[in-house]
Amino acid sequence: MGPFSFAASASVLPREVRAQLAQDVADWQGSGSSALELPFNDPAFGDIMAAAEYDLRVLLDLPSFYQVLFLQGGASAQFGLLPLNLVRRGEHCDYVDSGYWSRRAIEAASSNCSVEVIATGDGARLPPPSSWRRSSNAAYCHFTSNETAEGLQFHEFPELGGVPLVADMTADFLTRPLPVERFGLIYASAQKNLGAAGLTIVVLRRELLGRARPGIPAPFDYARQARALSKVNTPPTFAILVAARMLRWLRDNGGLAACMIRNKRKSERLYAAIDGSGFFYCPVALANRSSVNVCFRAPTEELEESFLKAAEAEGLLHLRGHPRIGGLRASLYNAMPEEGVDALTSFMVDFTSAYRRRRA
Ligand SMILES: Cc1ncc(COP(=O)(O)O)c(C=O)c1O
Repeated sequence: MGPFSFAASASVLPREVRAQLAQDVADWQGSGSSALELPFNDPAFGDIMAAAEYDLRVLLDLPSFYQVLFLQGGASAQFGLLPLNLVRRGEHCDYVDSGYWSRRAIEAASSNCSVEVIATGDGARLPPPSSWRRSSNAAYCHFTSNETAEGLQFHEFPELGGVPLVADMTADFLTRPLPVERFGLIYASAQKNLGAAGLTIVVLRRELLGRARPGIPAPFDYARQARALSKVNTPPTFAILVAARMLRWLRDNGGLAACMIRNKRKSERLYAAIDGSGFFYCPVALANRSSVNVCFRAPTEELEESFLKAAEAEGLLHLRGHPRIGGLRASLYNAMPEEGVDALTSFMVDFTSAYRRRRA
């Protein structure tokens, strides 16, 4: 058992996916070459991409009028690229400011178009969709479905009618079923729930293609990438292979409904351990707690430091909170096994008892 990584930036991979990838790299399907040596325009790589897209479509129950793009640059590149692809001159877009990552998105978008902030959270609570002061003529309305730094997650999604709803789902993409037709565009970096860094998935309604401003670099023009099947330039081949393996693993393990049940069970067990400890506490409002990034605190920063040190010695790794927020954070992405949560909660009990014994 263990070690277990609770890192927010890079997810753990399921053991069976790791084993499969080791085989893929050592000897791709008995060919004697490595999967890393496959040229992106080889039919074998085309098959990997097609399988990844097929499994993604099945998992999301994605209608055919949605386009799937496999891009590079991370969600951070999308922050600036969304207005360049979707906002025509003179138009504005609406943004929900719910925490650290949505503010990063707002800052980047503001360089490329006029941004209206239509709701603001307070770091512990999300502004509910019913409170968003939306405009009916925005080019799109953007929100961050899960704020990774603060551990906040939207559990309801608005229906916007005519204005395309755009979501940064980097932290909780494919962690639960989605009413996908409410969304105009969804984007997510792959390194949290889909495996390896380097790939950004963009899923968008085809009617949103073709609005890009002149001069946008070709690899970042959604319509050009759609026409070229995401091969305007060399795509991130290894990250796509990892995503393909993860997507198949998700399907083999009951799809998104089963995934949500597992994720809820894991996070509820951890929140219960925090709330019941009389020592740790979670500053996030009950209704907005994230099932993938559980943020919590100990009574003092000194105790947090000794908790982190002692946890690491037990193989419970990367529990430090986001540098801007502080505190502790356990990220429980799709592939975090339930034993990882059990190991963490029993360590929390031991740590608390040892602290109380010292004080007695
Ligand atoms: C919600 C959210 N959006 C965007 C990003 C940025 O992703 P990337 O570093 O892949 O650009 C992150 C990274 O943690 C994130 O959690």
